[in-house]
Amino acid sequence: MAYELIELDTDGRVATIRLNRPKALNALNSEMMGEVAQALADLEADDGIGCVILTGNEKAFAAGADIKEMVDGDYLSNYKHDPFEANHCAIERFRKPIIAAVSGYALGGGCEIAMMCDFIIASDTAKFGQPEINLGVIPGIGGTQRLARAVGKAKAMDLCLTGRMMDASEAEHSGLVARVVPVDDLMDTVNDAAKKIAGHSQPANMILKEVIEAGYEMSLREGIRFERRMFQSLFTTEDQKEGMNAFIEKRKPHFKNR
Ligand code: CAA
Repeated sequence: MAYELIELDTDGRVATIRLNRPKALNALNSEMMGEVAQALADLEADDGIGCVILTGNEKAFAAGADIKEMVDGDYLSNYKHDPFEANHCAIERFRKPIIAAVSGYALGGGCEIAMMCDFIIASDTAKFGQPEINLGVIPGIGGTQRLARAVGKAKAMDLCLTGRMMDASEAEHSGLVARVVPVDDLMDTVNDAAKKIAGHSQPANMILKEVIEAGYEMSLREGIRFERRMFQSLFTTEDQKEGMNAFIEKRKPHFKNR
C-alpha cells in the first residue's frame, strides 16, 4: 500500500515505520496515525516480520498531537469517534515487539506513542515532555499513566505540571528510555537490537511482551503465577525444543516460529 505521511521499509524480518511530516515536526494528525495503524495491521499479519521500529527524523520523533487539527474539536465528536483509540492505540495493541527510536522532540502525543512501544532507544539529542498543560489541557493518550509508571510520581508530576522538557540523559536516568546513543549511531543501534529480537522465536517474543505488560495490572503474586503458566505453555512449541537442543549441541538455533 502507498502511504503519504509515513515511510515503511523492510529489511529481512525487521520493518521500520518512519513518521514523515517534517515541516510540522511530525505532529500526529489523523491521516498519519491512520497510516501507522494500517501499517501495523499489515505487519502483524505478515509472518515474515519479527520486529518493528517506529521512528521520526533527527529534529523530531513527533512534537505531539496535531494542535491545528484539534483546536476546533468538541467533546461529543471526540467521544463518539475517538481517533486516538482507533489509530494511536494501534501501537499499544500491536502484539509483536516494537521499538521507538527517538531523536529530537518527543512531546505530548509523541512521548505517549513512544511510551506505547516496548522500549525506547534515544539519541543524545532527544527531548521528552508532556507540555499539554501549556495548551490548557492534559495528556490524552496515556501520558499521565505511563509516564508516572516509568519515571515515578514526583518526576511525572514535575514534567506534566510544569510542561518542561527533559533531555536524553535525564530520561535515561529516570528510567523512561532503555539506552542513549550518539545521534549518528541511533539507527544502527536500533536496527541491531531489532534484528536480534526478530531472530528469536516469535511466539516466545509475543508471550514475553504480553506477560510483562500484564504485570502492570496485576499483583506480584498473580503476575508470577501468570508468568509460570506462560513459561509452561512454551513447552508446547517446537521452538522450545530447538532452542534448548541447539544450546546443548553448541550450535545456533533455527527457530520456526511455531
Ligand atoms: N501540532 C501542530 N503543529 C505543530 C506541532 C503540533 N503539536 N508542533 C509543531 N508544529 C508545527 C508548527 O506550528 C510549525 O508550523 P508552521 O511552520 O506552519 O508555523 C512547525 O511545526 C515548526 O514548529 P515551530 O516553528 O514551533 O518550531 P520550533 O523549533 O520553534 O519549536 C517546538 C519546536 C518547541 C517543538 C514547538 O513546535 C512546540 O512547542 N510544539 C508543540 C508541542 C506541544 O505542545 N505538544 C503537545 C501537543 S497536544 C497533545 O499531544 C495532546 C495529547 O496528549 C494527545
